[in-house]
Amino acid sequence: MRVLITGITGFAGSHLADLCLAKKEVDLYGIIRWRSRTENIEHIWDKLKLLECDLRDASSTRDVIEQIRPDYIFHLAAQSFVPTSWKAPSESLITNVIGQLNIFEAIKKIDLDCRIQIACSSEEYGMVLPEEVPIRESNPLRPLSPYGVSKVGQDMLGYQYFMSYGMKIVRTRGFNHTGPRRGPVFVCSDFAKQIIDIERDLRDPVMKVGNLDARRDFTDVRDMVRAYWLSLEKGVPGSVYNICSGKSYSIKEILDILIEISGVKVEVDMEEGRLRPSDVPLLEGDFSHFRNDTGWEPEISIEQTLADLLDFWREKS
Ligand code: GDD
Repeated sequence: MRVLITGITGFAGSHLADLCLAKKEVDLYGIIRWRSRTENIEHIWDKLKLLECDLRDASSTRDVIEQIRPDYIFHLAAQSFVPTSWKAPSESLITNVIGQLNIFEAIKKIDLDCRIQIACSSEEYGMVLPEEVPIRESNPLRPLSPYGVSKVGQDMLGYQYFMSYGMKIVRTRGFNHTGPRRGPVFVCSDFAKQIIDIERDLRDPVMKVGNLDARRDFTDVRDMVRAYWLSLEKGVPGSVYNICSGKSYSIKEILDILIEISGVKVEVDMEEGRLRPSDVPLLEGDFSHFRNDTGWEPEISIEQTLADLLDFWREKS
């Protein structure tokens, strides 16, 4: 079976690559841009085939899809950091929406019969009201950032290409996920790295934070990529699935768990620059639709995930 992961050098992409390589039937391909950082896949470098491609370029996208002719495509490549989408909204929309459109058009053009998972996001729900949790897939989409809008665009394109052409697209709305290899700009990783720097006396014992009141539903990245695999193996084409834990924590609670596990003594300092023009206040999902179709459930606790993330920064620094 030929499997293509876009975004293979990224956080979830690299974990999904590990999972695919553990399956002996998989011949794994990834696409990278010439300037991609590759540290997340250096340990599996000789086990996969990498092709150079920028998804924003339609002809290069068509060329690589025609060359690989994958059975499964996991489309994870994206501009994935919400604050960047206010600084570079047009770039975020082009990368996320047009990049995906180029994949769909390439598949249509060469009439490829494959299954495609697209990584949509809980950010699409945006302004969720307290009485709407746990969020089901039928909840209204009220995105609060250009990133959220770009993911609604990807999601709707996935629906439309399934309806128009019968393409076997499965949309996964991933809620927050974290764990080892998480980029340092995302909240859990940012806090974990600050704690490790404090442990090592590399900085004063003052944690810089943004909005601690927001609530998020976190899943371990290893559970998340297991869900991505199952979405194509057992999910129903045309469906949209929430992938989440069903529990939410305030960012303050996440900070408290990290501090408790590490045992550091710190002060907490809110930095204006870390606040967003509009922050999604509450995300807590219902994953019963996905569980019913695939049997998936999250297995790794938030405490274990955060402990592993601290260890990741300890080993890396
Ligand atoms: N990054 C960051 N840094 N966030 C902070 C900080 C900080 O110092 N302090 C508080 N926060 C709050 C943010 O305001 C937000 O409410 C929450 O922590 C989570 O922020 P991120 O980790 O940056 O993730 P996100 O929720 O914006 O987006 C992530 O999850 C989405 C799924 O819901 C990303 O992984 C997206 O790509 C993904 O689609």
